[in-house]
Amino acid sequence: MTTDAPSIVVLVSGSGSNLQALIDAVHEGRIHGRISAVVSNNPEAYGLERARRAGIPTEVIDHRNYESREAFDRALAERIDRYHPDLVVLAGFMRILTPEFVEHYRGRMLNIHPSLLPKYRGLNTHARAIEAGDSEHGVSVHFVTPELDGGPVIAQARVPVHADDTPERLAARVLEQEHRLYPLVTSWYADGRLRLEGGQVLFDGRPLARPLQLDELEHPA
Ligand code: GAR
Repeated sequence: MTTDAPSIVVLVSGSGSNLQALIDAVHEGRIHGRISAVVSNNPEAYGLERARRAGIPTEVIDHRNYESREAFDRALAERIDRYHPDLVVLAGFMRILTPEFVEHYRGRMLNIHPSLLPKYRGLNTHARAIEAGDSEHGVSVHFVTPELDGGPVIAQARVPVHADDTPERLAARVLEQEHRLYPLVTSWYADGRLRLEGGQVLFDGRPLARPLQLDELEHPA
């Protein structure tokens, strides 16, 4: 790995299983970049432990120490920017971000969300999909814009909803797909294949008519 590999900063709030998938992909050479830091708002996040084990610098900015969202976001951005990120990856980062923060990283910040956006923005997506009687559910990776879970979707993976599914069982199956999708999309960004231009996703220089679908990429017709 060269030192000019793109710098990726990953933000986590919890378990960090998506972070682990990214760490593994970097180690296996599937992402041509380096995770230069892992930042968390939660000092107890297990994702921090995963980062330490991988020898990645960690930073904690505990939101409870800040009197406003704006002050927290300013401190967060200041810490992130010490690592000169080419890309910021939100991997289970459970904080609503201010428009100023989002604007600062416009076109270079990705989020993963466990639903087939634009369906089920926000929380409890698995329970909501089951409750609605949906036959399929899934995960989306999107560029972050000020609208919560509303930025342009880059790629999705779908999973069937089973008749006897519980939110936990469905979440576990979606998470398996998250671990395949997020490293792939991150690798595209690191390779310069993805851009956000005028609110539109460009993939290999061409606007996406609809989000890329993992199963179609893996099994082209
Ligand atoms: C993942 O399912 C991710 O999609 C979700 O949080 C989980 C984090 O798991 N993110 C959101 O709901 C963001 N709106 P992880 O910490 O094991 O990667």
